[in-house]
Amino acid sequence: HEEAHGPEAGYSFDGVFGTWNYAQLQRGYQVYKEVCSACHSLKFVAFRDLAQLGYSEAQVKAEAATWQVPGINPDTGENEMRQALPTDYFPSPYPNAVAAAAANNNAIPPDLSLMTKARHHGSNYVYSLLTGYQQPPERMLEDFPDAAPGTGLYYNPYFANLNLAMAPPLTSDGQVTYADGTDATISQMSQDVAAFLTWTAEPALIKRKQTGLPVLGFLLFATILAWFAKKQVWADVK
Ligand code: HEM
Repeated sequence: HEEAHGPEAGYSFDGVFGTWNYAQLQRGYQVYKEVCSACHSLKFVAFRDLAQLGYSEAQVKAEAATWQVPGINPDTGENEMRQALPTDYFPSPYPNAVAAAAANNNAIPPDLSLMTKARHHGSNYVYSLLTGYQQPPERMLEDFPDAAPGTGLYYNPYFANLNLAMAPPLTSDGQVTYADGTDATISQMSQDVAAFLTWTAEPALIKRKQTGLPVLGFLLFATILAWFAKKQVWADVK
């Protein structure tokens, strides 16, 4: 299938000196919340983790309260939905896998927490997948009629088996109204949510990169020190 590619200008977190673009991560969270969360969970991400995107403790609390999670009524012992707390994790919109499959033409929307790690070049993959829906090529249909998308399947050259059970989730510019006023083109929403999902999969990505250079500097320093120590220790030996 087609090689995944990212947005033209790349990502702020690319390269050795990469950094998070917090405004972008917040926009990506908005896309996840308003679009993707209708079908996909983020079970390894807790609401309190949003503090890392620059939200205050009060904002995290208020944000969590806009979500419902499965809970147990303390009086009756019955299962019921309750308001989420900062310590809760992003829930699945479905009560179980059977319900998820039934709602999606027998395909279960996977949890997205680690998606950008699970696929090669995952940040680019998510971007390409979201922007890559197209008509199946005529030649393919002529040569391999069986490869035509079946009912409820959509052709996308970035998906490993070409036809996926996810209808294009981002279909029109302005589908999300960004709180920060950014123009919500399909490409913009796609790269923002891809950046957000990069953060969910590796929240310590930037810390890891920032650790590398000082470690190299220390190793160089320690090597030079060892060199002079060796010279001194062996100075008397002819
Ligand atoms: C699969 C992302 C919205 C239903 C996927 C995959 C990704 C993804 C990365 C996995 C592809 C793979 O396995 O390599 C997103 C994003 C969304 C979004 C970023 C929001 C912008 C939705 C919505 C629905 C949905 C709203 C339901 C209406 C599905 C289903 C699959 C899937 C059923 C499984 C497809 C298959 O295995 O054929 N999605 N999704 N997604 N998604 Fe979404």
